[in-house]
Amino acid sequence: MYRIIQLSDVHFGTVNANVLNALVHAVRHLSPALCVVSGDITQRATRREFQAASAYFNTLPSPVFCIPGNHDIPLFALWTRFTNPYGRYRRYLHKEVEPLFETEQAIVIGVNTTTPFRHKRGIVTDAQIRRVAQLAAKNAAKKSVLVVAHHPFHVLEQADHDQLVENHEAAIRAWSAAGVDLIMGGHVHVPFVYPLTQCYPDLPNPMLVVQGGTTTSLRVRRHIPNSLNVVDLYPEKKIHITTWTYQPKDDSHPNRFMCVEKDMWKTN
Ligand SMILES: [Fe+2]
Ligand SMILES: [Fe+2]
Repeated sequence: MYRIIQLSDVHFGTVNANVLNALVHAVRHLSPALCVVSGDITQRATRREFQAASAYFNTLPSPVFCIPGNHDIPLFALWTRFTNPYGRYRRYLHKEVEPLFETEQAIVIGVNTTTPFRHKRGIVTDAQIRRVAQLAAKNAAKKSVLVVAHHPFHVLEQADHDQLVENHEAAIRAWSAAGVDLIMGGHVHVPFVYPLTQCYPDLPNPMLVVQGGTTTSLRVRRHIPNSLNVVDLYPEKKIHITTWTYQPKDDSHPNRFMCVEKDMWKTN
């Protein structure tokens, strides 16, 4: 089994310190090979927030793979926003905004769906679709292929439809044909797992959307608690996914993340 955990929308600047503390223990306990962070690492893309995120990631006992979200581009500093939108991100977090992580079991492909020309909505370009499809086609027979983006390729609620990444259907069709197993996303702060064949029954290969909630921000939506996803990859494209939510300390619960949902999926 090869374990990856997905954190998302950690939003340094609006973090809950108790949750940050519990998260270190959760990562230690879960012991993943990789921590994926699917964007919105800061709240306002300030130097201080990036420094805090970077310092915190260094305390985690597993390597961190991150991509930017719309909150990671300066919003009001217009000169910086348009001349060097990812400068702080690259300086404090990672020089690549579309990183690649490869092992014997899996390839993890970062896709940057943000652009300084849009405040909230994201886009996946034809060039990005081709890049992922080429990498997937080369690797899908031997290993699991995971895409990490910030904006969602599927949403459950009609009210969230305008959050969908532009061009999502073209990407879903091309990536399914190339053998991508799952697409991780964030942005909406609502965690779920969705098999895309339910919405696109003619897809050549089954593919999952795995959405992260906000793992550490105080700005939760619809009263959904802070959460993370645990993605366990097994041979023959079996994937076991659990969502863990933060349980604040009270008489019946310790102050920690606990497993709430389990699903076994197969993507071939
Ligand atoms: Fe967010
Ligand atoms: Fe976002």
